[in-house]
Amino acid sequence: MNKQTVRDVDVKGKRVLVRVDFNVPLKDGTVTDDTRIRAALPTLEHLLQQGAALILCSHLGRPKGKVAPEYRMDPVGVRLQELLGRPVRKLDDCVGPEVETTIAAIQPGDVVLLENTRFHAEETANDLNFAKQLAGLADIFVNDAFGAAHRAHASTEGVAHYLPAVAGFLMEKELEFLGRATENPEHPYVAILGGAKVSDKIAVIENLLRQCDRLIIGGGMANTFFRAMGFDTGDSLVEEDAVATAKTLLEAAGSQIVLPVDVVIADRFDNDANLKVVAPNAVPAGWRILDVGPKTIATFESALSDARTVVWNGPLGVFEMPNFAKGTFAVADLLANLDAVTVIGGGDSAAAVAQAGLADRMTHVSTGGGASLEFLEGKVLPGVAALQDK
Ligand code: 3PG
Repeated sequence: MNKQTVRDVDVKGKRVLVRVDFNVPLKDGTVTDDTRIRAALPTLEHLLQQGAALILCSHLGRPKGKVAPEYRMDPVGVRLQELLGRPVRKLDDCVGPEVETTIAAIQPGDVVLLENTRFHAEETANDLNFAKQLAGLADIFVNDAFGAAHRAHASTEGVAHYLPAVAGFLMEKELEFLGRATENPEHPYVAILGGAKVSDKIAVIENLLRQCDRLIIGGGMANTFFRAMGFDTGDSLVEEDAVATAKTLLEAAGSQIVLPVDVVIADRFDNDANLKVVAPNAVPAGWRILDVGPKTIATFESALSDARTVVWNGPLGVFEMPNFAKGTFAVADLLANLDAVTVIGGGDSAAAVAQAGLADRMTHVSTGGGASLEFLEGKVLPGVAALQDK
């Protein structure tokens, strides 16, 4: 990675503003998945050990520039305090005189968590004055929020123009593993894409087809490819607007694209629906494709068998319903047993791997959903670009 990191700066006695991605799921005022908080701990612990005072900031949800009580950072502060094992003082805003007074008095070893940056519309607008105000709280900026690095917002991009700005360990790790897969992958390189929509993933498909040896496509997006092949897909989700693009991609890619050869279909969108396994060109009216079938899993297994690098983004079926989760979990299992670099994009595929209890068996599970997808598209992430070069 060609960006400076926390190893390149002296933080002793300094106030360090750390942008973290603590956009975590909450239920009844508690954090239900603390993966992203845990993922930031190595950076926070390192900075504390080096004698810094920490000012942490993050967005949470999409409150659209207004204070929304359900998106306050308090539950995050509680969980962070438990995980760090030291007091975390949570403030009720992220800028302004009160915040400035509190921050002026903090000492090395202190940890302050600012309120949700998206309570101010200036955050997503990447307003320079707002970025300056945030920057004014600290001496150094550390960006460890890989999950938000595709957003050019004040706390991810703007602030980096007003302070020495370096990457945290999580940011470094994400860029290293995703970069290894995209820049110089060991071949055979197999990419697996799933999820509902082709339209979200056209750019990533095009980019991956330039780099990988095989591209496995499953999940709802495969239906659009089936339609492009002239198959009748019954009541399956199909993106009509993307059928022509899918056709072009299939023609260009030929055998590089590996599609399901059998599918699990259901007569309702319900875990308890009647189901059967059929060929993708034999889906009757009134039935819909909700998972890949057993022959497909065998096909995917052979497409993966000699892989040295695998990148996976998006589930292969409706894995939230146990009866349609087999394809997704089978792929998680195949990857866990490969002798290859395995990189899992964030979001649903990361959740599936975690649910399968296989996260530790992957080389890297990204904490970024949209960010990892944009990275795989070959885009420069603004939150990364703004950091100081080595
Ligand atoms: C994520 O959850 O993918 C990141 O935190 C970014 O959130 P956003 O899509 O609301 O910008």
